[in-house]
Parts: sequence; C-alpha cells; structure tokens
Amino acid sequence: MADEIAPPANQLAAVSLGNDGSTVQKAQFSNRVLIRTILDRPDGGAKLAGQKIRIGGWVKTGREQGKGAFAFLEVNDGSCPANLQVMVDSSLYDLSKLVATGTCVTVDGVLKVPPEGKGTKQRIELSVVKVIDVGIVDATKYPLPKTKLTLEFLRDVLHLRSRTNSISAVARIRNALAFATHSFFQEHSFLYIHTPIITTSDCEGAGEMFQATTLINYTERLEQDLIDNPPPTEADVEAARLIVKERGDVVAKLKAAKASKEEITAAVAELKIAKESFAHIEERSKLKPGLPKKDGNVDYSKDFFGRQAFLTVSGQLQVETYACALSSVYTFGPTFRAENSHTSRHLAEFWMVEPEIAFADLEDDMNCAEAYVKYMCKWLLDKCRDDMELMAKNFDSGCIDRLELVESTPFGRITYTEAIELLEEAVAKGKEFDNKVEWGIDLASEHERYLTEVLFQKPLIVYNYPKGIKAFYMRLNDDEKTVAAMDVLVPKVGELIGGSQREERYDVIKKRIEEMGLPIEPYEWYLDLRRYGTVKHCGFGLGFERMILFATGIDNIRDVIPFPRYPGKADL
Ligand code: 4AD
Ligand code: MG
Repeated sequence: MADEIAPPANQLAAVSLGNDGSTVQKAQFSNRVLIRTILDRPDGGAKLAGQKIRIGGWVKTGREQGKGAFAFLEVNDGSCPANLQVMVDSSLYDLSKLVATGTCVTVDGVLKVPPEGKGTKQRIELSVVKVIDVGIVDATKYPLPKTKLTLEFLRDVLHLRSRTNSISAVARIRNALAFATHSFFQEHSFLYIHTPIITTSDCEGAGEMFQATTLINYTERLEQDLIDNPPPTEADVEAARLIVKERGDVVAKLKAAKASKEEITAAVAELKIAKESFAHIEERSKLKPGLPKKDGNVDYSKDFFGRQAFLTVSGQLQVETYACALSSVYTFGPTFRAENSHTSRHLAEFWMVEPEIAFADLEDDMNCAEAYVKYMCKWLLDKCRDDMELMAKNFDSGCIDRLELVESTPFGRITYTEAIELLEEAVAKGKEFDNKVEWGIDLASEHERYLTEVLFQKPLIVYNYPKGIKAFYMRLNDDEKTVAAMDVLVPKVGELIGGSQREERYDVIKKRIEEMGLPIEPYEWYLDLRRYGTVKHCGFGLGFERMILFATGIDNIRDVIPFPRYPGKADL
C-alpha cells in the first residue's frame, strides 16, 4: 500500500499557507491532512518532520503530563487504524477539556520526531501550535467507556460504534470489498444494472418476503377519522338526496316558466352544489373501519401500487432481462428476507452481488465466482494490510493466511452426489451430525462447514443439486433429477455464493413452474425471455456480509454491516 501513497512533496503540494500562517490542505474538500497520509509511509512519517499541518480527529486516549503542563492525545480520524500522537501545551488550551475519550479536536501543529527512549512506537508526532476547534465530551456520560468493549455490547450503541477500532476497520474493509467488486466486474466488461428494491415477483419462491404496503397506515388514519368525524347515517344520506331533488324541481319549474337566464343559471349552480354534497356524504357513509376487502380477501387494488408488492429477495430475475440484451451484467444492492433466523449468518437486510452472464454455462459460472472471490482476497491483501492485521490481532489470527491460501489455491469442485458420499463416509467413520445425511437433503450448515473446513480445508464448489431443493429457474440436467446449480462453500462461513445456469428452454421452465405449484401469470414476463430470442445464461449471488465474515474472521454477521436488521431489531 505504501507505494500508492503520494510522496511528501505531492501531499504537501496540496498544502498551502493559511491566513494565520498555519498550513492547510485543500485537496480533500476539508482543510486538513488525513492521518493516513502521514503515518502510512515506509518511514512511518518520520521524513515529514518539520512540516506544519492541520489535522482533525477524535481522541482515543488522552493524558495530562508534567503536572498538567502538557497533554498527549492519541487522535484517530478514521482514515487508518493507527492514531497520531498529538502534544498540546497547557498555554494553548484548557487541557482538561481535551483529554476525554471521544473529544473531537481540530489542531494545527508541527510534525516532530519524538524523543528516543520514550518506549513509543510512533515515528512522528504532532506538536500543536494552535487549537482550532474542540467538540467536548462529558466523560461521565459518554456511552463508550475506555474499557475493552465487546461487539455484542456495541450492537446497542449503533450510532457511536463506528468510533471504535474494530468497527471502523470493518467499515474500511467493507468499503474496499465494494470497490473491488465494481473493479472486478468493470474490468471484465460487466455493466452495473440497478434492479428494483420494490418488486412484485418472488425470485426464490420461498415465501420470505417483506410486504411493501400503505394500506395499514391508510386504515389507521381512516379509523381515527371515523372516530373524529363519525360517518353520515342513512338519514343524513336521505336528507342530502332530498335537497338534490328539491333543487332539481326548482330548476325544472324555472325552465318551464321561461324564467330569466340569470335565475336559471343561479338555480343550476345551487343544484350542482347539492349533487356534490350528496356524492360526498354517500361515499363517506360507505366507509368502514378495517382493511379494504373484496370477496373476503384484502383488496390490494386499493393499495399504493394497485397490487401486492414486496421488498426484493434478489435482483436476479430483473437483472436477467438485461443479461438477455447486454450480455454481461451485475447488480449489487440490498436484499430483504423475512426469515425468522437468529443465526450468526443471517440478516433480514443484507447486500448481494449478482452477476448474470449470457452465452455462458455452469462451468463459466463457477469460473467467474472463483475468480471474483480470489480477486477480492488479493485486493484486501494488497490494499488493506493494516486493517487485516487488526482483524488478525482482535478476532482471528488466521485470517491473513486464509486470504493468501484462497487467493493462490484452486477451489475444490465436487457434485452434490459426491458431497453426500463424502459425508456418508464420514458418518460411517463415526462423525456425528445433527441433521441426517442422505441423497436429496438440503445440505445443512454443519455439513457445508465440515466439507470445506475439515475435508477440503479450502473453498469448495458443490454443483448439480437435486431439483427438489432448488429454485424453479435452475436448468434441469439431462438426468432430470438434478439441476445445474452451484454453491460456493468457504471455511468459517459455509455458503458464500449460490448460483446456477438458468433454464432457457421455454417448455421446460413452464413445466417446472407448474410442477412447483407457482402461479404462471406473474412470471409471464420472465417466460417472454425464453419465448423470444432465448439464450443460454447463468449467474450467481454472493452474500456481501458473508464475504466480510470470511475475510475478517468476525463471528457474527451483525457486526459487519453498519445497521444490522434482524428479528426484533431495526435501530436507527
Ligand atoms: O442462495 P441465495 O438465496 O441465491 C439467490 O438469491 C439467487 N437468486 C442468486 C443468483 O443466482 N443471482 O442467496 C445468495 C447468497 C447466499 O449464498 C448467501 O451468501 C447470501 O446470499 N444470503 C444471506 N446473507 C445474509 N443473510 C441472509 N438471510 C442471507 N440469505 C442468503
Ligand atoms: Mg442458497
């Protein structure tokens, strides 16, 4: 990474003298220097000694020394895991207001090489000449005490947990993996397509969708309105009807008597008002509390979209429409699953990367998945060493070795049938699983992890699954018992990727939809892709948070997404 950082001359070329004589950096839309650009150099920043700069950040730890004559602050601005040591003299500021953990400081100072023999690892520190700005913290009230905090504790402080070393490192790793994702697919000429969040199609057919509706708010408002303004009674409706009749009679009489044009116009206007009032009263008299119903069911024609709609579980079906026109595409966005899973591998809202490739089969799909995962591992090794070292120190000492292994070793590839045979052999040798092993089962997490962690000790692609346990869109193999599906299993996580070659034959997919008891009508547009200019194609979905779990070795998926959503929890 070090050689990617601008040399001092460049970094400071963006620095100019401020009015007060301090140096300020203009290049980053912010008048300060990123701490990373100082510390993340082969010499740890030592050669920058003598430079006058402005930095801003939050105090990790602060201590007054020399009987209150000066203070040392460890300041972090989120640009890298390391803190810059900052020294402030008591003549410049009330030091007691600077030392509390969490305090935000913007300071100008001169970079200096710290005196030797202080036992410090720092190669450079900032000696403050002016305190520009301070965001104080009342240490007795700050929700993040200085003691070591567990990830579990931090889940209840979502709005401040980004200030911790671990969560900020995860944020940088997550950012890097997103960048790597776009970089990989763009380099391979895939187009990034935005698929909808709100959808009327259930991709996985697993019935795990969140509904998107305004009917409930509408019903609540209506019920309150009916209490505040009780609906008109039948007598009210009748009275309004009578007024219409009376005014109609008046108009008729005036016309018969050949009254003046003005008189008739005025009477017609009165009649119009009576009619409008009657229509309004009659409509309100029909209002009933509760959801609108038709034939005993909720009447979704009254809902926002005029039909039932959901949050997407996958962008696949929609992205296929673009693959079947633009060849190689991908979508990368949030997906939602209302499964009541409380595991450390499931979220109700997670991000998925879904490439879709036309003129490609299952083997191409596996090759793409393997290349993509390797690319991300290499990216982290090349660009996120310091954050990965923090992960190794705090969570999983083997995480860097794992990235190196995955990046350099071909993934295993076995059929589902072979996987079952291997598991049966293990059972015969005494291995115990909670879930029974036999051909036809959906592999449980314990089976997947045994295969990848114990038997192969590297990523493993399992393909050709029984059709009975997979989605309708997967291509039926010639044996008519299995489909061209593949899952990528990785140590620590189990299933990282699920994908398949898609069924491109109209008759076969139509029969599959029917066999699975799904309604044809909502999939007519999907069938059109097979009716008109059908093409062999394939794709997969990578669970983005699972990739972060795999890379970092963090145990719980709730700690690798900024705002985790799971049963009972949707903070902020
Ligand atoms: O295997 P899945 O369900 O596949 C699909 O949705 C396909 N339509 C993808 C495609 O072919 N375009 O989900 C894909 C991946 C899983 O392998 C897993 O990594 C992740 O998404 N995943 C979840 N991640 C977190 N929380 C959940 N509840 C997840 N469900 C699936
Ligand atoms: Mg799956």
